[in-house]
Amino acid sequence: MTMRIGILTGGGDCPGLNAVIRAVAKSLLRQCGAQVIGIEDGFGGLMADTPRVRELTWESVSGILMRGGTILGTSNRANPLRSEADTERVLAHARALGLQALVVIGGDGSMAIAHGLAQRGLPIVGVPKTIDNDIVGCERSFGFDTAVATVTEAIERLQTTAQSHSRVMIVETMGRYAGWIALEAGLAGAADVILLPEIDFDLDAVAAVCRARERRQRYTIICIGEGAKPRGGERTVQQRIADSPDPIRLGGVAHVLREQLQPRLDSEVRATVLGHVQRGGSPTPFDRVLATQFGNEAAQLIMQGQYNRMVTLHGGRLGHVALADVVHGTRTVPLDHPLLRAARQIGVSLGDTLA
Ligand code: F6P
Repeated sequence: MTMRIGILTGGGDCPGLNAVIRAVAKSLLRQCGAQVIGIEDGFGGLMADTPRVRELTWESVSGILMRGGTILGTSNRANPLRSEADTERVLAHARALGLQALVVIGGDGSMAIAHGLAQRGLPIVGVPKTIDNDIVGCERSFGFDTAVATVTEAIERLQTTAQSHSRVMIVETMGRYAGWIALEAGLAGAADVILLPEIDFDLDAVAAVCRARERRQRYTIICIGEGAKPRGGERTVQQRIADSPDPIRLGGVAHVLREQLQPRLDSEVRATVLGHVQRGGSPTPFDRVLATQFGNEAAQLIMQGQYNRMVTLHGGRLGHVALADVVHGTRTVPLDHPLLRAARQIGVSLGDTLA
């Protein structure tokens, strides 16, 4: 009997999603002649009264490797675990569609939903997706490299305008409660100060770096993760989305910091919030390759009947872990991470000590 496998992309989009869809579909089509059913708009497509689905053929997934976004569409609001009726409808639709298993490509919110549905008997294989690189159990998710490249380019551009005007430029990255994007892009873009959600910053220490640079280099670049906060202060919340599996949207800390820094400095302070530009566009070659490996690995797990697991990268090798082991927590930057040590040793301020 022909296998029928569903595939969906959940949560915020991310460069490399199409590369995963392509690799899952091509592996399943070529290796076992499965029918691959694309579900539109994340879990929303299965929650609708009439499920929104379309068959993925070899032709329909050809030519999408380098395309940003997701050809299937996504949703970061649809949550079938919100009510028993929604859960039941999704399970009933999966049965009616004849799906033997479902591939869920998503972040921690989607993995939590996947785990809940798996516990209710729907066989699932998860593929970790996020530009934030914060999924427990996976040392590098696809999309992260592309986001770092985008932010690095933005910082490089800010360098020249900061120099020309002798300004302090604050650039805010995405990343939620994890500082991976700010840390790697800050280092790659030669930021002078890198502020992370994991290390509360001291306004006096940040101002001291800027003042010292006002006297010598005359400009400063501060790269700040959206989840960073001052010592004793709060994170900056941009929006609350009640029905989302992840209701709090961070953002805007660069503007808050700008207002606090400006009165302490002679030079002008400007803030740039990069926002969704970090999630758009074509994936880097690294992300295309990683996403292809993840998609292929997910297909192998399906064919081996190894369900309720998420594909991972650990110690540079592909693997998989139980969904139950990844649904709690966030993979933040450990305080003893070698990149933090390197940053300090080359004179980059992490905003926590007066240098
Ligand atoms: O998790 C990915 C991410 O881009 C975060 O870095 C960011 O905080 C959030 O999603 C933004 O979500 P939305 O697209 O709902 O504004």
